[in-house]
Amino acid sequence: MRDAGLRLPRNDPRQYDELAGEWWQPDGAFAMLHWLAQARAALVPPAVRPGALLVDLGCGAGLLAPHLAGKGYRHVGVDLTRSALAQAVAHGVTAINGDAAAVPLTDGCADVVAAGELLEHVPDWRAAVAEACRLLRPGGLLVLDTLNDTALSRLVAVRIAERLPAVPRGIHDPRLFVDDRELVAECARHGVDLRVRGVRPGVPGLLRWLFRQARGARTPVGRAPRIVPTRSTAVLYQGRGVRGG
Ligand SMILES: C[S@@+](CC[C@H](N)C(=O)[O-])C[C@H]1O[C@@H](n2cnc3c(N)ncnc32)[C@H](O)[C@@H]1O
Repeated sequence: MRDAGLRLPRNDPRQYDELAGEWWQPDGAFAMLHWLAQARAALVPPAVRPGALLVDLGCGAGLLAPHLAGKGYRHVGVDLTRSALAQAVAHGVTAINGDAAAVPLTDGCADVVAAGELLEHVPDWRAAVAEACRLLRPGGLLVLDTLNDTALSRLVAVRIAERLPAVPRGIHDPRLFVDDRELVAECARHGVDLRVRGVRPGVPGLLRWLFRQARGARTPVGRAPRIVPTRSTAVLYQGRGVRGG
C-alpha cells in the first residue's frame, strides 16, 4: 500500500486516500510524520489565554494532536483529504475540508498556525504562506517544517528516503520543494519574522528503527527516532516565526 505513489502521479492527493490506513501506524508509511509532529509541537508553547486557537494547515489525520495535549489550544485542522480529516476528528481536531491556499477563517483568528510537511505539496506555496500569515493575530506564532529546493534534498528526500519504510514512494514532487531563503523572504513580506534551522532524524535512533523494521519488530512506545537540529537547512528544515504587531 505504501507504493500507491507508483501508480498515481507524484504528489497526487489521491495517494493519501490509498494510504489512509497508514496514518496512525507508528511504524507505517507515515512513520516519519509522527517523529516530525513531535518536534513541531515542541516549538509550540502553552496557550497564554483561554480558548486560544491553533490552526493546523494540511493537518492530515491530526498527528500533531497528541503532542499538543495539555497545552490549552483549540485545534482546528484544514486539509484537502476527507479520509485523513475523518481520522483527525477522531483525535479531537475540528476539521475544515479545504485548501490551505484559501482558508475560510477570519484574519487574525489564530494564536498559532502550524504547517507541517505541507508547503512542499502545494502547487502555490506562496499562497499558502500568505494564508498562514493572514490567519495569525499580531504576536501569533507560525511553526512549520518542509523540504528545501536543493539537489541534496531531491537526492535524500526522494531518491533515498522514498526507498525507506518511513516515507511513501511517489509522495513528493521535487519541483514543489521550497527554498528556505525564499520562504523567509515571503514570510517577511507578510509580517512574520521566520527563523529556520535544519533538522534530521537522529542517526542512532534511525539505525535502531531500520534494524527493527528489517526484523519485522515493532517500535516500543517512546523509542521512535527523534528529530534533532542539524547545521544545514539543505534538506529538511523547521521554521518558527512571530507575526509583528
Ligand atoms: C505530508 S502530509 C502532512 C500531514 C500533517 N501535517 C502531518 O505532518 O502529519 C500532507 C498533507 O497536506 C494535505 N494537503 C496537500 N495539499 C493541500 C492543500 N493545498 N491544502 C490543504 N491540504 C493539503 C494532504 O492532504 C496531506 O494530508
